[in-house]
Amino acid sequence: MIQKLTITAPDDLHLHIRDEAMMQLVLPHSAAQFRRATVMPNLKPPVTTTELALAYRNRIANALPTGTAFTPLIPLYLTDKTTGAEVRKAYESGVSRAMKYYPAGATTNSDSAVTKIENIREAIDVMIELGMPLLIHGEVTDPAVDFFDRESRFIDEMLDPLHRAVPDLKIVLEHISTKHAAEYITAASRTLAATITPHHIALNRNALFAGGINPHNFCFPILKSEDDRLAVLAAATSGNPKFFLGTDSAPHGRSNKERTGGFGGLYSAFAALPMYAELFERENALDKLEPFASFYGADFYGIERNRDTVTLIKEPLTIPDYFEVDGDQLVPMRAGDTISWRMA
Ligand code: DOR
Ligand code: ZN
Repeated sequence: MIQKLTITAPDDLHLHIRDEAMMQLVLPHSAAQFRRATVMPNLKPPVTTTELALAYRNRIANALPTGTAFTPLIPLYLTDKTTGAEVRKAYESGVSRAMKYYPAGATTNSDSAVTKIENIREAIDVMIELGMPLLIHGEVTDPAVDFFDRESRFIDEMLDPLHRAVPDLKIVLEHISTKHAAEYITAASRTLAATITPHHIALNRNALFAGGINPHNFCFPILKSEDDRLAVLAAATSGNPKFFLGTDSAPHGRSNKERTGGFGGLYSAFAALPMYAELFERENALDKLEPFASFYGADFYGIERNRDTVTLIKEPLTIPDYFEVDGDQLVPMRAGDTISWRMA
């Protein structure tokens, strides 16, 4: 049995690190495992311009432990007003290697997002020219749609028409949660790919209710059925280059999780890579971890693969019950559980 696994340094291509005290806490956790990350722009106010992205990148650089090599790539948060020139500027400055599309109202801080995809047509044309992927939060927001059908309906009603209209645009369907998404991406052309989180392959929707209602497992897209989980897990461990690592680690303090109207998001970044390793090992697919975590995402984005390595060791790691942050607590995914891998 494998006791030690050295792989090319991985990238987390979907990560929330927030700002200020929360960033100070969570950034070192990600930087200890990943060399680069797509750092999501849904701050308040959102990161909608190159200038705001560069300022955010500076704040991240200042919060990094000294001597840590960690590069944030910050997609601009597209709005109805994002111009093609702004997309080009973000690319040329080096701060962005992708752009982010949230349907208005879909998730945390998505109120200023795009209302109609036609409104970002100019931005899309520049992205095609530059080979920049569009990162999509794929959920419809119509309150009449069943909460568990939001992703499937988005694929059929929004994603598929968009992909047909602009087949040359690279699209990443973020944090897929359904069998339908796994099948759709598998069957689609090479310009479509998807990120997969640890929570959507570790948990099904029972985790929302087991032992009483558990808001710490509430996220967007919401956890789905066991059938869905197994299909997404199979996609992650398949060795298909359309599927790659993006944790969607999304920290919120306990006070914002354990209340009416509490926020969506699991904090998985503390032990994300060890959790993926455990899940891949259980599927007899440890050999697929490196390409999933370190090759396929970089290749799809069109950025160089990292050159150095990280090492995982098969030794028990107990996830803390919580971390203290700014007078509040952050409860991580699998709090209190012991997992079977840790970083060397
Ligand atoms: O659960 C989620 N939380 N999903 C998202 O898409 C956003 C994220 C957040 O920012 O809290
Ligand atoms: Zn996210």
